[in-house]
Amino acid sequence: MKRSNILFIDDQQSARDLFLRLLDPHKYKPIVAPGVVAAEEYLRHEAADVVVTDLRMPDVDGLQGLERLHLTDPDLPVVLITAFGTVETAVEAMKRGAFDYLRKPFDPAELEIVIDRAIAHRQLLRENKRLRSEVARRAASEDIICAAPAMSSVMDLIARVAPSDFSVLMLGESGTGKDVFAKRIHQLSERSKQSFVSINCSAIPEHLLESELFGHEKGAFSGASEAREGFFAEADGGTLFLDEIGDMSLALQPKLLRVLQNGEYYRVGSRRLAKTDVRLVCASNRAIEDLVDRGQFRQDLYYRINTVRIDLPPLRQRTEDIPALIEHFLVQLAAHHPRVPHTVSASAMALLLEYPWPGNVRELEHVIERASLVCDGDEIRPESLPRELRDKGNAAGVAAAAIDTPYKDARRSFEHGYFVQLMDRAGHNVQKAADLAGLHRSTLYEKLAALGVPYDHDA
Ligand SMILES: Nc1ncnc2c1ncn2[C@@H]1O[C@H](COP(=O)(O)OP(=O)(O)OP(=O)(O)O)[C@@H](O)[C@H]1O
Ligand SMILES: [Mg+2]
Repeated sequence: MKRSNILFIDDQQSARDLFLRLLDPHKYKPIVAPGVVAAEEYLRHEAADVVVTDLRMPDVDGLQGLERLHLTDPDLPVVLITAFGTVETAVEAMKRGAFDYLRKPFDPAELEIVIDRAIAHRQLLRENKRLRSEVARRAASEDIICAAPAMSSVMDLIARVAPSDFSVLMLGESGTGKDVFAKRIHQLSERSKQSFVSINCSAIPEHLLESELFGHEKGAFSGASEAREGFFAEADGGTLFLDEIGDMSLALQPKLLRVLQNGEYYRVGSRRLAKTDVRLVCASNRAIEDLVDRGQFRQDLYYRINTVRIDLPPLRQRTEDIPALIEHFLVQLAAHHPRVPHTVSASAMALLLEYPWPGNVRELEHVIERASLVCDGDEIRPESLPRELRDKGNAAGVAAAAIDTPYKDARRSFEHGYFVQLMDRAGHNVQKAADLAGLHRSTLYEKLAALGVPYDHDA
């Protein structure tokens, strides 16, 4: 069993020596510090499971010391040791988050009981945190792939913000999943039983967008032969998703602002106020701040829709998700097509991992779809991939891929792809691969091992 680190703070050498002798060395690893400053120094490098400290801390006042220890680690249980007459301060310290206190002189058995309770308490806190992140992960569910580290804070934010009524602004390059995540926010909200209405502001001609959003009366404009409810009425009680919000005209923006402020709007051609209760999620693939700076987007509306902002990272910053996304798309395709390849060859995968994906997940989806149609085996191989993926020497491709990557990572990723392909071409024969690459056999072995490229030991 792992021993728990117990940090003991006391300015007196004799007290520290006593503490070191008191604790069962099989269960605990005691560490001693003469004051709060020294303890903080220790905590900067090592973790403690529990802190036991004298209340009269030598260098820093007891309550302040408690606060400072919690600054380094808010979940750290702190047990105070109080002399006779300082019990009131101890009670005050408990109110401020101390875990417990012991009165001097204390009984070793009592000390152990308190320490064990503190350890159990800390484990519970950890478990709670783990469960919370588990909830966030589930919020993603199976049809959304998001295992990459770059996505975990996004999923966590989505899980936390979804149940509220806050307006969410989602920013991300084209194809990063803005539609997918907007829908997920709705599904995780209390409005999930009501409708989710999605409109793309750039797809609807400017002069029609107002009546689409707010509805219109019969005869409100030429062509309005019937009265119609708008999207705000349709989404009442649910969620309205306004995609490409940056394309909304300046003339329409104040009307949107008003409905967001008080839920009131007018149908086109009507003087009667209508009411609606919608939760708004907006998306854009352009930075709205820039539009605000250029006077193309109202600042007050920007503040209103931007209560919570979610930045979806481009696919090239979450390449860890690529294999899972491919598998996900292949499974989906297999449901509709009888002969869909099941896997991707190592060299094809290397190309897929290296490509900078300007069109993000949507582009990957199309590439896999096309490859699985043209591929005649059970495995997608490089020749089924489009030209731009295979042309790795392509300078623009390298520049785009390398743009967010430090040189040493970019080089490693290039080398990895190179050697995977090389081994493929050489039929996994190391000598043949060495000849093709113009390398010594031993150099090649070193490279393969360092990069984790599989090779056949006997070849
Ligand atoms: N994390 C994901 N897991 C599985 N599929 C995804 C994921 N993200 C996106 N997709 C798929 O990729 C495609 C593009 O996603 P989506 O339409 O949500 O992107 P978008 O950011 O709204 O793009 P645009 O800016 O062009 O509107 C969709 O088919 C979607 O199902
Ligand atoms: Mg979209």
